[in-house]
Amino acid sequence: MRTIRANGIDLAVDDSGPSGRVVVLVHGFPLTHEIWRDQIAALAPHYRIIAPDLRGFGRSGVTPGRVTIDQFADDLAAALDALGIAEPVVLAGLSMGGYIAMRFFEVHRARLAGLVLCDTRAAADTPQAAAARLESAARVEREGPAMLAEAMLPKMLSAATFAGRPDLVDRLRRMILGGDARGLAAAARGLAARPDFTPLLPRIDLPVLAIVGREDAISTPAEMGALVRAIGGARLVEIDAAGHMAPLEKPAEVAAAIAEFLDAC
Ligand code: MLT
Repeated sequence: MRTIRANGIDLAVDDSGPSGRVVVLVHGFPLTHEIWRDQIAALAPHYRIIAPDLRGFGRSGVTPGRVTIDQFADDLAAALDALGIAEPVVLAGLSMGGYIAMRFFEVHRARLAGLVLCDTRAAADTPQAAAARLESAARVEREGPAMLAEAMLPKMLSAATFAGRPDLVDRLRRMILGGDARGLAAAARGLAARPDFTPLLPRIDLPVLAIVGREDAISTPAEMGALVRAIGGARLVEIDAAGHMAPLEKPAEVAAAIAEFLDAC
């Protein structure tokens, strides 16, 4: 990991692999770049892989209050500048990382060669979901990240992974418990305020790969199927026996899907 200064914050970034095609891997909420560990190992022999901890997560700096999806996207653009990367990159985002990738397309289109949207969705929070998020932001600030782990872990993994892979459950739990409560709360408030990206989808004129765990209960295959149809020309890869954390649950399958996409774009 190295630390770079970007957009007024210190960002911890895993920067691996040779020069050449750059692939940026963006994690989801309430996690860190570590969710991409196996894909970094598989892809870094061939591509330069940039995997940041977003503002407020992992080893990166924290800005309390609210951090919007726009700010996260601008942080990524500033991180590319700080790393001296001017050529178009392939940007892959899981869930919240996917929201950031869609916003990045909206404002930094020229910096992109392709998008990988993994276990994500275009729709904004419903008013009920946004209210629940604001409540959980306040709770995480009061009680710490353990309440998020309890609430989210069972929904993040397929039933089989949750029951049969205590190592993965533990890895995810440690990632969540290691989070900074103020950073997590700030991101939750930003998630509650994010816009609906559905109108943007038909304007996405880049190669797009979508990946979804067949048992993803948060961003379901049906919802991702609709997202892919709205983009037009995007490919959807469904991963068997995986939930919302497809890159952790089926690392080789997800790495292979991304590698095949990179070879073609
Ligand atoms: C994520 O994995 O990033 C979250 O499920 C996103 C969300 O809560 O909307």
